[in-house]
Formats: sequence, structure tokens, C-alpha cells
Amino acid sequence: MERKWWKESVIYQIYPRSFMDSNGDGIGDLQGIISKLDYLKELGVDVIWLSPVYQSPNDDNGYDISNYQEIMDEFGTMEDWEQLLDGLHSREMKLIMDLVVNHTSDEHPWFIESRSSKDNPYRDYYIWRSGKNGKEPNNWESAFSGSAWQYDEKTDEYYLHLFSKKQPDLNWENPKVRQEVYEMMTWWLDKGIDGFRMDVINFISKVEDLPSAPIQNPNKPYQSGGQFFVNGPRIHEFLQEMNREVLSKYDIMTVGETPGVTPQDAVLYTGEDRHELNMVFQFELMDVDSGPNGKWDLKPWKLTEIKRIMSKWQNELNGKGWNSLYMNNHDQPRMVSRFGNDTTYRIPSAKMLATFLHTLQGTPYIYQGEEIGMTNVRFDTIDDYRDIETLNMYKEYVNERHIDPQKVMESIYVKGRDNARTPMQWDESEHAGFTTGTPWIAVNPNYKEINAKKALEDPDSIFQYYKKLIQLRKEHPIIVYGDYKLLLEDDEKIYAYTRSFGKQKLLVILNFSKDQVPFHLPEEVQFNSKELLISNYSVNEAQEIKQFSLQPYEARVYLVS
Ligand code: NOJ
Repeated sequence: MERKWWKESVIYQIYPRSFMDSNGDGIGDLQGIISKLDYLKELGVDVIWLSPVYQSPNDDNGYDISNYQEIMDEFGTMEDWEQLLDGLHSREMKLIMDLVVNHTSDEHPWFIESRSSKDNPYRDYYIWRSGKNGKEPNNWESAFSGSAWQYDEKTDEYYLHLFSKKQPDLNWENPKVRQEVYEMMTWWLDKGIDGFRMDVINFISKVEDLPSAPIQNPNKPYQSGGQFFVNGPRIHEFLQEMNREVLSKYDIMTVGETPGVTPQDAVLYTGEDRHELNMVFQFELMDVDSGPNGKWDLKPWKLTEIKRIMSKWQNELNGKGWNSLYMNNHDQPRMVSRFGNDTTYRIPSAKMLATFLHTLQGTPYIYQGEEIGMTNVRFDTIDDYRDIETLNMYKEYVNERHIDPQKVMESIYVKGRDNARTPMQWDESEHAGFTTGTPWIAVNPNYKEINAKKALEDPDSIFQYYKKLIQLRKEHPIIVYGDYKLLLEDDEKIYAYTRSFGKQKLLVILNFSKDQVPFHLPEEVQFNSKELLISNYSVNEAQEIKQFSLQPYEARVYLVS
């Protein structure tokens, strides 16, 4: 397996709107980020992934872009952005930008042209179809509720939008669209960025005749059309072209956001001989607590399921592709609330989950606030929520499908994206030190207890633990590259595995439960000496580990030989 800097890096995601506000307008901005660069350096992360900062009407907080080469006014100017890049590079950190090219904003000049007439040169930049029997061209559902088609009176046709109606899908079949995208990417790379995170990049190629989807849920007017655009017919051709024309010319990293991929697909996207992407975000783990009707259909997760999914990805990509490791981001609930315990055992469980992510094969991603154990939020009313996905779903479920609003709120508490989007908690001052104004979304009321200032002062904090984990990856290549082997497959509380690299072996023992549980080391793990690399409780290092009792959410990592 080839050694690469992006395999050995730890990546930190910033959601700029919620990170740090420098000018008191209640919205995070670039100068706010710049003021926190020493904090990020102290943590020890290598790469920053910046969620979109481009010009946008913010229907979907920047994932609806109206100009790819300008900075959003609320975030600052291009000079601020350059200062940010320099500030990162001078601290030996890198910057990757979010590339959102499955769709643009409906306020992008291309779309304004495109919708103006059927013979406009930009018409074919988007996906237009005439209606069928006075209805939409097909039955596809938008990811943000309702039809994926919007009727446009001007030309009496519909355009496709897999997300909001202000996010029309680009037509990648059109070579001009692809050239425009490649030129824009080249322009950013020439400014010195270090790579891209690619938004729903495996949706860009659609099956050409756009057939209606089979009815999966008869209670809904529209259905998921995923089978006609997830990993679509020309996806690998498009990515190889992008790689040839742009990516291969730079020493950069790429990570594709790819809902619905299997490990086999991921090998095609990330195989070193394939010349497409470096790694992808898989969603199987994120679906582990969803019922048959999708993310809002709550279902408790089972540890054996998590093991099955993660082991499959670890084993199938080993030597053939590369994993990205994450348990939360701006689209997901907070991981400590979801997979750990956000009350009594918040601190040990946040450390245990971090140990898990940082001791697997792949590149770990930290989402802002994760390093201080930020939790989900429960706002009293729907009016306090801001996310378009949540608000549209609430309207559909409550107004059209007459589902009990309290039940809908419960799903939002568990799965809503705003859980991750409340402002970063910097200190115990008003609005958690995020802004001197009124924040665009309320701060989680637990900020007096959970904040970065406290974490920096406490030698036992989650933050200090992350620092150590990040350092360990730098000191021990086995943590990055070692082969993974699952132990105790059927245990519903303990997740244990080894990693092997040459003669070295790493033993990772994690208690995913709030109970004290007896641990018995399987016979197959043989060793003469052991060294404890990290643990989230104080451990007597001389202790025998053939058999012992694990504390609630305890995590231990041993190097054995
Ligand atoms: C995935 C992004 O992460 C999410 O925030 C966004 O809403 C959709 N793609 C559409 O761009």
C-alpha cells in the first residue's frame, strides 16, 4: 500500500455559518475562522475542509451556489479568504474546498439564462423536460420533500432538482458544463488550495430517459429515484475525465460524498489504478438507525450491525481503496448523542468514539465541536429550526400526511441536521462566545458546561484526548495502515479488533455500553509484551488483560508484540 500524506492526515470540517462570527451580525465568517487558527493548530489537525463559502442565496446554507468564484458577502471577501489560506499554510495546515457541482442555485447566471428561453445557449446546462399528462415528467421525490421537478411557466417545461427547487441539477451530459466545471476547479487549484470535498458527486450522471421509480412507499405521492442517478451510467467516465483534465495535475486530495455506495463501488471510485478520487464518504453507518421509511423512521442501532458494516468496509477496501472515517458532519446528528451517551457518560463516551474513529484504517474526519463533545439540541418549537430539509419534512408530515407533530419533533430531535449546526461553543459568555449579536440559529443551552475554553484548561478533557489520538497516528504508521481484524463478532456491548502491520500488532478494546462488562481476550491474540498507548480511564499498566472488567464506555489501545 502506497504511503500518502492524505492517508496520514486528520481532517477537520468547518461549517462557516456556525463556527465563529467576527462582526456581530450573528453569522460565522472567514475572519472568525482566522481568529481560531491557533486553536486548530493546537488540536493538531492537518487539513481543514471548509463547507461552501461561495456566493449563495442560502436556501440550503451555501450548498446552492450562485457564483463559484466569489465569496458570500456574509462571510467576507476574497482577500479574507486568501488570508485564511495563507494563515493555514503558514501553520503547515492545508485547505480543501467544498465542490458543489451536481447543482447550482437557481440564481446562478447559467440558470437565469437557461430558464429564459428554449433556444438560449444555456438551456442545455440544466435538465428540462415537458410534463406528462399535465403532471411532472416522472415521479421522483426531492431529497427535501415533494417532487424533484419544478414547473417553469416561461417555457412551459419542468426542470429537475434532486434537492430544493432553488438547486436545479446541472446537465453533465453536456460537455460544455463539464468544461466550465473543470475550468472553475483549475482556477481554485491555481490559487493554491489542497483539494476538494465533492458534494453528492455520485449523483451527477443520470439515466438518460429519466424513468419513473417503482412505488416503494404507497403513502407518498413521490418516490425515491435513486436507482436512476446514484452511481449513474457515466459516473466513472466523468470522474476519470475530471481527473485527467484537472486533478492529476496537482498534489491534492479528494473526497467524494457518495450516498448509497457499497464497498465494491468505493473500490471503483478510490482504487489507485482507477484515477478518480482518493476516498469517499460511505453512508451505510449513517443508515444503521433508520427504518424502512428512511432517516426520520427511527430505529435503535445495534452494535453487531455497526461491526458488520465497519468490518466490511475495513476488509473490502484494504489494499484496494481508501476509507474516510466519520460519525458526524453538518448533515448528521452529533455522534456523542447518537452513538454514545450525552448525559452521565458524555466525556468517556465521546473519548471512546474518538478512539474508534482514530484507530481504524482510513482518514479520520472531525466535525467542529466534536472535539469538545458537543451534543444534539432540543428546541421547543419548529420555529427555532432553520434547516430546509427539516422544515419541508415537517410541513409535509404534519400538514399533508397529518402525522402527530410531537412524533415529528421526536424524529427531528434525533436526526435533524440542525443538531450539528448550532453555533460552536467557545466559552461561557453570552451566545457561547460565538457572536456579540443574535445568532442565526440559537446556541445549545448547555454551552456553560460544554465549551472550548473549559476544554483547553482541563488536562482530562475530550479536546486533550483528541490531541493525543492525533499525535499517536503520527507516531505509529500501524494506526494508519495496519490490517484490521474483528474480535468478538457477536458481542452487543464490546467492540474489539486488532490491527497488524509487519510484526506489530495493535489491540483496540471499546465498550459501547453504559454497563460494566467483563472482557475476555480471545485466544487468537497472543503476545509477550504490551504497551498501553491511550485509554479514557486511568489504568494500571501492569494489569493482566486476558480477563478484566471494562468501565462504562471504556476504551483502551495497546501495542502488543
Ligand atoms: C450534501 C450536503 O452535505 C448537504 O448539506 C446538502 O444539503 C446536499 N448535499 C445538497 O447540496
